[in-house]
Amino acid sequence: MLTVKNIHQYYGGSHILRDVSFEATLGKVTVLLGRNGVGKTTLLKSLMGLVPIKSGSIELEGKPIHKSTPYERARAGIGFVPQGREIFARLTVEENLRMGLAYKSGSTPIPAELFELFPVLKQMINRRGGDLSGGQQQQLAIARALAPKPKLLILDEPTEGIQPSIIKDIGRVIRMLADRGDMAIVLCEQYYDFAQELADDYLVMERGEVIARGLGKDMEAQGVRQLVAI
Ligand SMILES: Nc1ncnc2c1ncn2[C@@H]1O[C@H](COP(=O)(O)OP(=O)(O)OP(=O)(O)O)[C@@H](O)[C@H]1O
Ligand SMILES: [Mg+2]
Repeated sequence: MLTVKNIHQYYGGSHILRDVSFEATLGKVTVLLGRNGVGKTTLLKSLMGLVPIKSGSIELEGKPIHKSTPYERARAGIGFVPQGREIFARLTVEENLRMGLAYKSGSTPIPAELFELFPVLKQMINRRGGDLSGGQQQQLAIARALAPKPKLLILDEPTEGIQPSIIKDIGRVIRMLADRGDMAIVLCEQYYDFAQELADDYLVMERGEVIARGLGKDMEAQGVRQLVAI
């Protein structure tokens, strides 16, 4: 679904991403791990087109997208859940979900399925985003990204600052979405146990480089917990 080859990225003179290559496959969760500041968010933003890459290529279903705008990439089927959620605090839950459909035709309904995945959003449909708890906001951000039915879902640290019961719910939804087989998921995580539970494939980054990769089931044996321990 997604093929990333040899990408390099710089902020001013700092070389942030160094020759990063990986693939994300339909029906699988590809987990990206790494300590603070190693370039995880930068990598995810470059997939979405929010930061430009200097060299390398990004393909979605075999088509190059690295010259496309974020808007075009969203239309091509990428859903993005940013670190820190970035929901619209003054808009209602319903309006936030409609923002996820902004580039579809005006009459596209909010898929009912989103309320099955996250029942709390139904209860709070008229509440302002800013009045939700952190965990509810994260569920809203995920639902907003799912609204246009992406083929590739990218999540940047969805468990950050969230209570355990909601983390469990989010994990269940991610697994279920992957198991349906029609979506590839890239999940960036620093919460090791959550990452390990969900990973079909994993990558570990350090200083902008991929330093380890493999199958999720081998993470413990391959010492990934130690690699990312703070
Ligand atoms: N807009 C920017 N301009 C300049 N440098 C930046 C910018 N954004 C990030 N950086 C730097 O790039 C490096 C990688 O940052 P990035 O946010 O990608 O890391 P991260 O792995 O997502 O970290 P965290 O786990 O804290 O979210 C860091 O050294 C950071 O200070
Ligand atoms: Mg980050």
